Amino acid sequence: MQGKFITFEGPDGSGKTTCAKGVYDKLKKEGYDVIYTREPGGIEIAEEIRNIILDPKNTKMDARCEALLYAASRRQHLVEKVLPALAKGQIVLCDRFVDSSLAYQGVGRHLGIEEVFAINKFAIEDNMPDFTIYLNVDPEIGLQRIATRNYKDRLDQESLQFHQDTYNGYLQVVNKYKDRMIVVDANQDEAKVIDDCFKIIKEHLNV
Ligand code: TMP
Repeated sequence: MQGKFITFEGPDGSGKTTCAKGVYDKLKKEGYDVIYTREPGGIEIAEEIRNIILDPKNTKMDARCEALLYAASRRQHLVEKVLPALAKGQIVLCDRFVDSSLAYQGVGRHLGIEEVFAINKFAIEDNMPDFTIYLNVDPEIGLQRIATRNYKDRLDQESLQFHQDTYNGYLQVVNKYKDRMIVVDANQDEAKVIDDCFKIIKEHLNV
């Protein structure tokens, strides 16, 4: 039995991680065989790559190098964790996947959505998510949330323009993959966002 591959996407400050973990807890409580994992990271090699990418001291990192590192960590995480879990029939809730690269590197870094998709195609082959929850937050609200963080990684510290471009990138990606994307209003309070996502996921699991 093949499991379900569900990804969570959204700009920084969209509350994506809290939401994905909240949904995980609810599904687990109802007895679903579910795992939560994240990108970049989720396994040792990918967490090491994450540290290199997000280390604020790596200001010299070239945009293509950044895109390749995300794709490399994605590949390892996919083969080591996601695909084996799906083969066991588990539901995989993955905090970020290829759409993050399309929005952040494709548009935020101006590398182009198609170019970034091409290197990711090499990394993921045909393994796309069954569906994706996109947490749609107004850029001002998202940026206010980032501003209150104690630790800001290299991408959090990027310019306002970069964050705005990334947000616009997500709108393009959501439009490009309409059939796979489910847009949730992430301007609402946390508990309501988790509840909305939980209901949507359960509906999709039961069809
Ligand atoms: P996180 O804050 O959701 O853990 O993600 C770490 C940062 O990495 C976040 O600013 C988004 C960024 N990112 C990309 O730029 N491209 C990617 O492919 C992924 C997965 C994350």
